[in-house]
Amino acid sequence: MSAQSSTSSTAPSINDPARMHRLDPAMLELILGYVTERLELAEAPVDGLGDRAAMHEAMAGLIGDGPREATEVLDVYVDYLADTVLSADSPRFFAFIPAAPTKASLLFDMVVSASSLQGCSWLEAAGAVMAENAALQVMADAAGLPESAGGTFVSGGSAGNLSALVVARDTASQRGLSPKIPHVLVSDQSHSSIANALRITGMRPLIAHTTDGCLTVEAIERALAKDPEAAANLVAVVATAGTTNAGIVDDIAAAAHVAQQRTLWLHVDGAYGGAGMLVPRLRPLYDGIEHADSMVMDPHKWWFAPFDSAALIYRDPYLARQVHTQDASYLDVIHGNDDLNPSDLAFHLTRRARGMALWFSLAVNGLDAYRDAVDAGVRIAEYAASRIEAMDNVELVRHPELSIVLFRRENWTVAGYERWSQHLLKQQAAFVTSSSWYGEPVGRLAFLHPATTTEMVDEVLDSLLRDY
Ligand SMILES: Cc1ncc(COP(=O)(O)O)c(C=O)c1O
Repeated sequence: MSAQSSTSSTAPSINDPARMHRLDPAMLELILGYVTERLELAEAPVDGLGDRAAMHEAMAGLIGDGPREATEVLDVYVDYLADTVLSADSPRFFAFIPAAPTKASLLFDMVVSASSLQGCSWLEAAGAVMAENAALQVMADAAGLPESAGGTFVSGGSAGNLSALVVARDTASQRGLSPKIPHVLVSDQSHSSIANALRITGMRPLIAHTTDGCLTVEAIERALAKDPEAAANLVAVVATAGTTNAGIVDDIAAAAHVAQQRTLWLHVDGAYGGAGMLVPRLRPLYDGIEHADSMVMDPHKWWFAPFDSAALIYRDPYLARQVHTQDASYLDVIHGNDDLNPSDLAFHLTRRARGMALWFSLAVNGLDAYRDAVDAGVRIAEYAASRIEAMDNVELVRHPELSIVLFRRENWTVAGYERWSQHLLKQQAAFVTSSSWYGEPVGRLAFLHPATTTEMVDEVLDSLLRDY
């Protein structure tokens, strides 16, 4: 895709401090033309191959003291930068956690940008807060949280997990706990951001070791029995609703039971997998989530919204407000009332109204479309699993619960998976990466894009028949 050639119509006059704030009609046409072309693509290319040396050369000296034509700069982006970026929204992107933002969410995100919509407080942004809360309500309802639940959108699951665990730590005394060093019960499959959050906050993990990727009653009991001192210092339990590596939903009810017995905070990390709750046949997997004190779900993952957006929801958002509200005289005007301001519910202050793209898309598309799109990811994972089961040289590690498939390719080490990945990328057939399962290197396919077809999956699986 190339930028259309058109030139700036009005030469900006030197020494006019507002010159860069005037709307240049040619630039408007140029950018809208590019965006329209991108949005109209039937399938985003995998990309990610671009020439890095050429990119460095093209960027040299681009930013100087004087102006440049927008076409020239956009051409640098299109010709040298864009191709080096993997399209996470390609239906052939099966690595990490893919993205598949709806057109409605992408378009409304442009409104959020063009209108400089922030969502800090009711005083500043009542309409934005209202819309974001409506989107949060859909998620809280899906989990069965009480009507009093509320929260905010943060930049990602990592930021959500950190903010929630800070509330768990700082409100522990209100639940009758006085740990010497606060500990959090986590599983060995919890997302890496949980470990980071604990390190940042000076808390320690009590790790429950799983045998099949799932945090179970047995795994929890073993961990509690093995380290009674850590167990006596717990402030929270973290359950994962869709592990990132294998898409496994922990036994949330078991985690909730332990949390209730010990007056611990229950945090559910559904950053990737929480959206599975929308599919009625999968809903029982999430039983117990209704007891969560806090929960994270990423719209930029399986809720089909643009980067960067994570929903952080608390059972009692007033507890979060006690912990996260920033105290400054210039902010007094937004406090001093019963308003639950988004800025007061996480570690942030100024924030883009990043939940509005989801709100718009939920309303425009309706929830049935979301249920079908999430289900499509699970069904394509089931298809991939059934094909793998029929292969001679490839073995399924575990039947997928959600939309991630792990497999072993006979005789392959990490290097074998890497060469396979590079081959598929070079062909632009797919982007895949390997992972490990209890120390053993494995192949991993993460599905999420509803436009991924069985033919695309076949192409990837057929490529496992030979060595690279
Ligand atoms: C379960 C889980 N938690 C947390 C995260 C971190 O989310 P983010 O990358 O949005 O910070 C991820 C990311 O994949 C995840 O899968």
